[in-house]
Amino acid sequence: MNRKEKILVTSALPYANGPIHLGHLAGAYLPADIYVRYHRLKGNDVIYICGSDEHGVPIMLRARQEGISPQKIVDFYHEKNKASFAQFGIKFDYYGRTSSKVHHQTSRDFFRTLAKKGVFVLKTEEQLYDPEAEMFLADRFVRGICPKCGFKEAYGDQCEKCGSSLSPTDLIEPRSAVTNAKPVLKKTTHWYLPLSRFQKKLENWISGHPEWRTNVLGQVKSWFNDGLRERAVTRDMSWGVSIPEDVANGADVSGKVLYVWFDAPIGYISATKEWADLQGNPELWKEYWQDQKTKLVHFIGKDNIVFHCLIFPAMLMAHGDFVLPDNVPANEFLNLEGNKLSTSRNYAVWLDEYLEMFPADNLRYVLTSIAPETKDADFSWKDFQARSNSELADILGNFIHRTLTFVEKYFNNRVPEPGKYDELDMEVLQQIKKSPAQIGTWIEKFEIRQACRGMMNLARFANKYFNDREPWVTRRTAPEKCAATLYLCLGLVKTLAVVMFPFLPFTARRVWTMLNLAGDVETRNWDMVFRVHLTPGHPLNKAEVLFPKIEDDVIIKEIEKLHKFTNPDKSGAEKQNFENEQKKEENIVERVSFDDFKKIELKVAKVLAAEPVAKADRLLKLQIDLGSEERQIVAGIAESYQPEELVGKLIVVVANLEPAVIRGTESNGMLLAASQGENISVLTLDRELAPGSGIK
Ligand code: 2FM
Ligand code: ZN
Repeated sequence: MNRKEKILVTSALPYANGPIHLGHLAGAYLPADIYVRYHRLKGNDVIYICGSDEHGVPIMLRARQEGISPQKIVDFYHEKNKASFAQFGIKFDYYGRTSSKVHHQTSRDFFRTLAKKGVFVLKTEEQLYDPEAEMFLADRFVRGICPKCGFKEAYGDQCEKCGSSLSPTDLIEPRSAVTNAKPVLKKTTHWYLPLSRFQKKLENWISGHPEWRTNVLGQVKSWFNDGLRERAVTRDMSWGVSIPEDVANGADVSGKVLYVWFDAPIGYISATKEWADLQGNPELWKEYWQDQKTKLVHFIGKDNIVFHCLIFPAMLMAHGDFVLPDNVPANEFLNLEGNKLSTSRNYAVWLDEYLEMFPADNLRYVLTSIAPETKDADFSWKDFQARSNSELADILGNFIHRTLTFVEKYFNNRVPEPGKYDELDMEVLQQIKKSPAQIGTWIEKFEIRQACRGMMNLARFANKYFNDREPWVTRRTAPEKCAATLYLCLGLVKTLAVVMFPFLPFTARRVWTMLNLAGDVETRNWDMVFRVHLTPGHPLNKAEVLFPKIEDDVIIKEIEKLHKFTNPDKSGAEKQNFENEQKKEENIVERVSFDDFKKIELKVAKVLAAEPVAKADRLLKLQIDLGSEERQIVAGIAESYQPEELVGKLIVVVANLEPAVIRGTESNGMLLAASQGENISVLTLDRELAPGSGIK
């Protein structure tokens, strides 16, 4: 038995200033989740850490526009994004947030250590200042013309058109993103990380990693060629981690915080500390961050390469107490229907909206099949439909369904006797042994797209075996042969359940249940999967269709939805309208008039009956008494409530909501429930009132 590997996996901490879309998922989360699920099945000691990046200018800008505190914004999106990830089966061991106390402490300690070691250079320089807003304009607080490509809406830290990394003073005709005022120059003092001093060490370290992706090595090399320059690690801002005064060398730290890109990657460490606390072993984080045997793997998008391959490693080197990344498998970008995804133009597929229409596993599969591992990739709804129908449904789903229904019909829904194997059967056993090992090797090499193809090829092979064996003929002509065929087909179904688990965790669980196997597919051992181990006579559960076909009309609606909201510029140059920046249809803090509020008819209802909705794990169907009528509503509370606990309760419903069909079940109204992450509490009355009573 191989020794267990210790692996610490992170995904880029998403900014908590907007929801997650499919580009995020494809870039840094889905491949990491697949990698982690695989290593858990291998029995390795792997933990998966992520969390919300809650500092930085975009969050402050959003807060200013909305007239509320940044904390309110990040509280909202932290919970929302955490829930979206969970709904897609992205299973972190811990999802932290950089506004936490532990994080602030850890970042300040990190800064203090570097300051004490004399790593920083303290410099007073003139920077752009907005005289109207009375603030310095760092990073995205300032916009202007890109000196490299002439793009008019470049940010103070980067030009989104040509990708150049910029300083605010590089911009031509700069203007404040806050007031649109013309900035003036004003002196300010900041701490700088002199990256040039680390270049040699970084080059040596990276040269020891020829196995990294070529796109990553290519970007790193071009940074080295340009020569690394010093970077300010502090900012004049009120929102962020404050600078430890004891190491300020007399400089005034008031109104200054750590630069978001200094504290965010330290978030990986602080989140691991918080995870260790929850394990009841506060020192446990050290076993990952301070043990040279740990493989630290950062999954990111290509725009984060410089931070994870150069700046954060330089910080880690300077600190000295931590391991360096073993690999940084950065993905390229995902486009949508041939155009760049854009939050500001609402040109995206948002995860919550996707889930209203389709199951999570379909998107997991499609995004993995087209993963932008080596070059930018394109997601199109037609391709989504084609892959869902002709691969998931016609190959994988079909093989499992035809096998299970055959056994149901002709073997009394019990595992048949294996009988004698011939050459073709032996080939099946070979495949069952070979495929998982091959797929595993691809995953270990971060060739996740290829691994996913390997999984589907196993299903293809299985279908062919079923066809070649013609069990519908041997059932009459050679019943023992037929039994052996179906025994092996069930073995293939079992193998597929385990092998698909990293990619399609929800489906894998359903297959496991259909096979009526003990335990959880999640606790299987990847290396043992080749042992078919099915007991003849073992009863199976009812076969279900795993992937219903996706019809044209639903796909057409999705395409129309994209065109309705946007007018993408084919050249890729984004039309940046600052007024619209960060604005989405979901405005979390917009105020409504009392007249608007009155339009919503809230009523007391009594729950008469409650039951699960078939094939929808999160939904319950409730029959409710509204005084003057009885109605059916569907609510996404099945993970928090047993149907029977709701019966007899007085709840609050929106009575005049348009009826909707949710997963094939009509819902005529909506109940109100409070949620904090995954905790859901249905609003109930604390004294008895008649159903139908109004709520004001
Ligand atoms: O690009 C981003 O979305 C950043 N919030 C990623 C931060 S990754 C890490 F360093 F925390
Ligand atoms: Zn540019």
